[in-house]
Amino acid sequence: MNLFNVYPLYDIEIVRAEGATLWDSKGETYTDLYGGHAVISIGHTHPYYVQKVTEQLNKLGFYSNSVKMPIQYELAEKLGELSGKKDYTLFLANSGAEANENALKLASFTNGRKKVIAFKGSFHGRTSLAVAATDNPSIVAPVNATDNVIFLPYNDVAALEATFAKQGNEISSVILEGIQGVGGINVASDEFLKKIRSLCDQYGAYYIADSVQCGYGRSGKFFAHDHAGVQADIYTMAKGMGNGFPVAGIAISPKFEAKYGSLGTTFGGNPLACAAAIAVLDVIAKDKLIDYAGTLGSEIMAELRTIKGVKEVRGKGLMIGIEYEYPIEDLRKKLLFTHRMFTGNASNKNVIRLLPALNIEKELLYKLVEVLKKEAV
Ligand SMILES: Cc1ncc(COP(=O)(O)O)c(C=O)c1O
Repeated sequence: MNLFNVYPLYDIEIVRAEGATLWDSKGETYTDLYGGHAVISIGHTHPYYVQKVTEQLNKLGFYSNSVKMPIQYELAEKLGELSGKKDYTLFLANSGAEANENALKLASFTNGRKKVIAFKGSFHGRTSLAVAATDNPSIVAPVNATDNVIFLPYNDVAALEATFAKQGNEISSVILEGIQGVGGINVASDEFLKKIRSLCDQYGAYYIADSVQCGYGRSGKFFAHDHAGVQADIYTMAKGMGNGFPVAGIAISPKFEAKYGSLGTTFGGNPLACAAAIAVLDVIAKDKLIDYAGTLGSEIMAELRTIKGVKEVRGKGLMIGIEYEYPIEDLRKKLLFTHRMFTGNASNKNVIRLLPALNIEKELLYKLVEVLKKEAV
């Protein structure tokens, strides 16, 4: 059997990793400035993480969600503590798309409405409603297409107000990333997020904060939406949550009532995923990685702004977009094949995305700045 060929692949085989260093099968080393797509939050093969997951595997690898699992309560407790959402409840899932799918469903179950507001430049995943709320028609299959999703321009307060004024009573939820990732690192303004909060309250809609990429401390706050001082109704999480172990979750405000059977999954909340997620939270808390990411990110963004050919540097913490005056495809290839640095791209062809582990060494980011200065045209 061959693999279904949907990923354009680099001819590189990564066989080992430690911290922000990757080794390929030929023994070459690379610096991971992309965190395997915002997934590696505490560094590859972190010893505490490896220990916690290994210990759990030796105790209990899996049982179904029909029995009590103390490790799920421990995860919920620690997540509530570190995120500051102590009174929220946690539903565990397996991927970002699934988290968003469940959030959109929960909102709709609760207010009985069908319409969802999403934004231009969004990415919410590839399952049915998550992909319908994603601004990329090429990945929406005919079976997923729906007129229940209304796309508005991101950060456009007037368009939001006008839509609510026209059909506010039909809107079930508003879903958005606090910082758009795939869209090219676009930061939601505080004014915009506050307006979403107040319009949702006014019209009985729910505010879903897709924090799959911009969450888990990456922005210098636990959720990027926290920068605006607003509380969303549901926060969705995945990527950095398990440092590579597939785990996702939604943090649900006390407004929502749980009903047996309304949400569910076989694998969500399995003990291994919980052990991985707890290890991540423990390391983030102990090493104060949220503050570290916030401070280091600001410092590096200032440096990146001095590079020739750079039009704009956007982001918060260690979620950084470097927009060049020209397409960056060749530059990214040079970074990878000449300087051995993994970086990310975006739907905006001029943007390099940086999504390193939250504990990346400062020197590695300064090395990138030096390389980008050398390659500037
Ligand atoms: C903001 C955002 N939401 C949702 C997803 C989907 O996550 P997953 O690929 O785990 O389904 C992604 C993935 O890139 C994302 O960036």
